[in-house]
Amino acid sequence: METGFAAGEGRWRARLGTLRQVVRQELVTRQLRAHLPGRAPLRVLDVGCGQGTQTLRLARLGHEVTGLDSSPALLADLGRALAGEPEEVRRRARTVEGDVRDLASLFEPGSFDVVLCHGVLMYFADPEPVLDDLARLPGPGASCRCWSATATGWRCGRG
Ligand SMILES: C[S@@+](CC[C@H](N)C(=O)[O-])C[C@H]1O[C@@H](n2cnc3c(N)ncnc32)[C@H](O)[C@@H]1O
Repeated sequence: METGFAAGEGRWRARLGTLRQVVRQELVTRQLRAHLPGRAPLRVLDVGCGQGTQTLRLARLGHEVTGLDSSPALLADLGRALAGEPEEVRRRARTVEGDVRDLASLFEPGSFDVVLCHGVLMYFADPEPVLDDLARLPGPGASCRCWSATATGWRCGRG
């Protein structure tokens, strides 16, 4: 299913190693470490995981991470990165090829401790239905974290 991202996917992949992206990922990683409860393993869903930078880092920390994305090419990039990881990290990370708009049918409500959605919502003209579905996924006491580009920078929302 095509969204606003598909046309720019090649450019996104080509720029993953740029300073801007490396710094952005590092900022997200540091925020997550500060925000997530220390105990592992948490059940984490990374919605629109793409190349899986955070999926991989969280799996390395001991969390059970599911990366959902609609792009076969980006999931293949993540698969290649995972192939170079130790077996226990590979076991903790799984990928699902699917559309964010099908969240409700893909996952049971309350089935994750942490739900991430970074750099995805800005591709939807109306992100409200996706937000509603995202909000159903974390179980009691769990959290949902969205990070999206705005006209003036990046905006992070937590719940
Ligand atoms: C800008 S990238 C962000 C990737 C990653 N979350 C990050 O922060 O590095 C946007 C990602 O959202 C995914 N995406 C866009 N629309 C989607 C949809 N409708 N369903 C699933 N994934 C989608 C793209 O394939 C891409 O991997």
